[in-house]
Amino acid sequence: MTTTLRDAHGQALSTTDRASLAAYEHALDLFHSFRTDPVAVLTPVLERDPGFVSGQLLMAGMLLTAFDGQLLGMAKASVDAAAASPQKANEREQSLIAALGAWSGGDALRANQLLGRHLIDHPRDLFALQLAHLGDLFLGHSFMLRDRVARSLTQWSAEDKGYGYLLGMHAFGLEECNDYARAESVGRRAFELQPHDSWAVHAVAHVCEMQGRVADGVRWMKATQRHWATDCGMAVHNHWHLALMHMASGDMDAALALYDDAVTPAPEAIALNLNDASALLWRFALRGVDVSQRWQALAARWRLQAAWGSIAFNDVHAVMALAAAGDDDAASAGIAAIADAARRPGAQAAAVALPAAGGLQAFAAGQYARCVELLLPVLAASSPLGGSHAQRDLLHLTVIEAASRAGDRALVRAMGDERAARKVATARPARAEDPVYA
Ligand SMILES: [Fe+2]
Repeated sequence: MTTTLRDAHGQALSTTDRASLAAYEHALDLFHSFRTDPVAVLTPVLERDPGFVSGQLLMAGMLLTAFDGQLLGMAKASVDAAAASPQKANEREQSLIAALGAWSGGDALRANQLLGRHLIDHPRDLFALQLAHLGDLFLGHSFMLRDRVARSLTQWSAEDKGYGYLLGMHAFGLEECNDYARAESVGRRAFELQPHDSWAVHAVAHVCEMQGRVADGVRWMKATQRHWATDCGMAVHNHWHLALMHMASGDMDAALALYDDAVTPAPEAIALNLNDASALLWRFALRGVDVSQRWQALAARWRLQAAWGSIAFNDVHAVMALAAAGDDDAASAGIAAIADAARRPGAQAAAVALPAAGGLQAFAAGQYARCVELLLPVLAASSPLGGSHAQRDLLHLTVIEAASRAGDRALVRAMGDERAARKVATARPARAEDPVYA
């Protein structure tokens, strides 16, 4: 009689190889905390034990949550290897094969739906929860960032290994649902439980960003920096957040230094890192800082790495860099690819990305009224583009700057009032004496 092997959270795996299981556990914990490099840990194991179903699924999930169209083929190969394994996949693994098969086939929404059902049946499958959580972020499902985690929380106890990761995810979901006080409290507790949880650090950074608490945010990031600044998949993005805080405080030199030292793409950078670089340079440009040389280097990377038509969020950031670098032909080719993607059934992200990319291209060309014309309607329903509120805030900031440069004073006033009222609303309950009320 063989003993069923289980992971640290009690999930059964269809393997009898304890060495494979040990490597899986190690890689999975790295994946949960975004520390590097779970792929390097798992790769030799899968070379030795290619029929290791859960190992192949972990590899596929890690590749898919890089949200890079160029990695879909590799992810599909791992899912196919899991499905074809002579080690018969158990029910949980079969359910994951279906979800990740859909995802690697290009249907992230269907995958997210399948993972949602999977988690109702397997609420302690932390791997599946993280996949769904990151999927929710890139599908723009703000409420599910919070509520999907809540569906599982009661099935865990504070003593369970990995419980802090749930709290880190829940904290980010609470933040994206504008519940800032709870988000900060839960995020800080997650960090106390597991200081290497860079997602929990990130959730608190978002709270500070959304509440305009610049000094608190800088303090938080610097106090936690040793846990995420190196050997961490969140290093670029968390530095991006810190750079935003420096910009908000008016310290452009510190923000630029962070771009050069920690955000500008390294040779091994993935598309998500390039997104952060585009978004940061764009914000510098909106503030009138000359970053033209940096745009040229970034655009060169995007020409190599853009996988047009697969991830709309990435496409918009690629267009941003190409247009800002003056490569209008490449930017227009990218927009044409987004338009093709938008014609596919259910292409909600591309439908938002199309006017967004067009508006950004117009801004880069100095066509500010055209930029406003394209971007203003997007602001009403930009979430299908994916990403966080802080990331999509770039569209708001662009509309404000375009309106200013176009001399549209009424729009500048309205957008400024909107942002001021939002800041008041998020800081505390409404009061009659708030300046927003007559
Ligand atoms: Fe973020």
